[in-house]
Amino acid sequence: MYRTHHCGQLRKEHIGEEVTLAGWVSRIRDLGGVIFVSLRDRYGKTQVVFDPTENADLTNEAKRLRSEWVVQLKGTVRQRPDGGENREMATGEVEVFGGSLHVISACETPPLQPEDEFEPSEEHRLRYRYLDLRRERMQRNLQLRHRMLQTVRSYFSSNEFIEIETPFLTRSTPEGARDFLVPSRLHPGQWYSLPQSPQTYKQILMIAGYDRYFQVVRCFRDEDFRANRQPEFTQIDVEMTFVHQDDVLAVVEGLMKQIFIEVLDTEFPERIDRLPYDESIRRFGSDKPDRRFGSELVDIGDELNGHGFGVIDKTIASGGGVVAFRAPGLGGLSRKELSILESFVKERGLGGLMPLRKGQDGNWSGPLGKFLPADRLDVVAEKLGLQDGDIGLVAADAGMRRYEVMGMLRLKLARENDWIDKKVHDILWVTEFPMVEWNEDENRWDALHHPFTAPDPESWNQYRESDPSKIKSQAYDLVWNGEEAAGGSIRIHNSEMQEQVFELIGLSKEEARNRFNFLLEALKYGAPPHGGIAFGVDRMVMNATGESSIRDVIAFPKTTAAVALFEGAPSSVDEKQLTELHLKGI
Ligand code: AMO
Repeated sequence: MYRTHHCGQLRKEHIGEEVTLAGWVSRIRDLGGVIFVSLRDRYGKTQVVFDPTENADLTNEAKRLRSEWVVQLKGTVRQRPDGGENREMATGEVEVFGGSLHVISACETPPLQPEDEFEPSEEHRLRYRYLDLRRERMQRNLQLRHRMLQTVRSYFSSNEFIEIETPFLTRSTPEGARDFLVPSRLHPGQWYSLPQSPQTYKQILMIAGYDRYFQVVRCFRDEDFRANRQPEFTQIDVEMTFVHQDDVLAVVEGLMKQIFIEVLDTEFPERIDRLPYDESIRRFGSDKPDRRFGSELVDIGDELNGHGFGVIDKTIASGGGVVAFRAPGLGGLSRKELSILESFVKERGLGGLMPLRKGQDGNWSGPLGKFLPADRLDVVAEKLGLQDGDIGLVAADAGMRRYEVMGMLRLKLARENDWIDKKVHDILWVTEFPMVEWNEDENRWDALHHPFTAPDPESWNQYRESDPSKIKSQAYDLVWNGEEAAGGSIRIHNSEMQEQVFELIGLSKEEARNRFNFLLEALKYGAPPHGGIAFGVDRMVMNATGESSIRDVIAFPKTTAAVALFEGAPSSVDEKQLTELHLKGI
């Protein structure tokens, strides 16, 4: 037997027992010849003491130990001397008095010290992931991930959902990214796609009568780097039959409540707001608003229009508007700092950024102060909630991007200036998404979610011909602390409607049949109304642990350049493999 107890187990009631522990040396101290070894495993740490007056040889042997060696220690549990207790450690009231020592595995000087307070570079951490994963923080994160998935499985199972696995070697599933392709050896020139999500399978399962499905499932998307995305990531995928939107939202809220209570040990908000997409864009410049701080975007075009300030008057005349927000405590920004912020919005397509603040003489300063009447600016300041020491930031633009870019600036300043209250959790639904958005590059409409999302029937009938941008869909996103934690919709359950939607997004009948015939066909054989959602597990765990990167809650993530660093992937392969896959010479 390697051990009788683990390193987080011993307490006062074990005093006097002979125990065997095994683990990693986390620290070794020599205090006047007495050697203190802190032994670590994933359960905790235990102090082991070697005293030369009791056993000189063994103590000399213990002196040789170095951090990260794997050792087995035998000894007697005893109470720590008065004043020697460590209340921060679960085992801190006791120690093991070493009786024997066996080195199982030595460790070369580790390139990354799991015990260091100092944070190594991410590249270094991923290169030596096995050492990084020994760190307490990573162990805590992965254990919380496990507990969250346990809660998820138990919640769904006890609500009549069943977990069904779906294939990885499949054909293309449209979620807006590129597919990872796998060449077929048996069928030269043919390819499997790795699923971007199990979307079509879960719909087929509903048609097959498997009401209430869920799956903890890996999804694969070959997309360019964006924050908090990984080429492979985990979803909790869910689908239900005979449901309306409210039914799906209620199931999700029940799960979130359970996660908050069981995993986060925190109260769940009484109410989860539902914010229509348009309102979310106007107030936060984003469909995943972070409401843990104020500084909402405010339209101030009406207040400033028609007072002779050319930029503003012209922008409004051309159908645009003026957006502003309050930057608390940033009244002292220098010209240079302001010009950096202005470059930020210019790089993202706005014409400029105007400060709203008073000069030392108490009058409104800058171009706004110069060209606009003070009483108008007073009204604006009131609307923004400007106080002494604040600054208002103002941008005029003809397009909707004024909201989007000012929303990005709001978030950037919040992160840089600690406006975000990290202790609160903010959860809301964003609903009433547009069905489609215009794709400038390809000159056609794109589905904003995926093309299986059901439109809101009224707006479909009203705007399908005249202005598809106004069609709303029955889609919803769950936003948690400014991250899209989950997204789903009520689906189309009728093949004619599905064909019409394919047509709207520019998929010809042949193409639609070619790619989705199985679904179009299945929809003709008794398809029940159905809907569902998928959660991004990595983002949920990130929020639950308070981390700011999903890479810190995934055991073996890829870098931002989609590289697996310590095992080295992607990599080249043997010629022989290429030949077998009929890829030689391509
Ligand atoms: P969607 O594409 O919105 O919907 O994905 C659902 C959730 O998965 C997470 N997510 C990601 N997490 C990490 N890395 C990525 N590359 C990544 N992409 C997405 C997000 C997102 O909210 N089939 C639909 C769901 C449905 O309609 O039921 C789908 O996949 O948290």
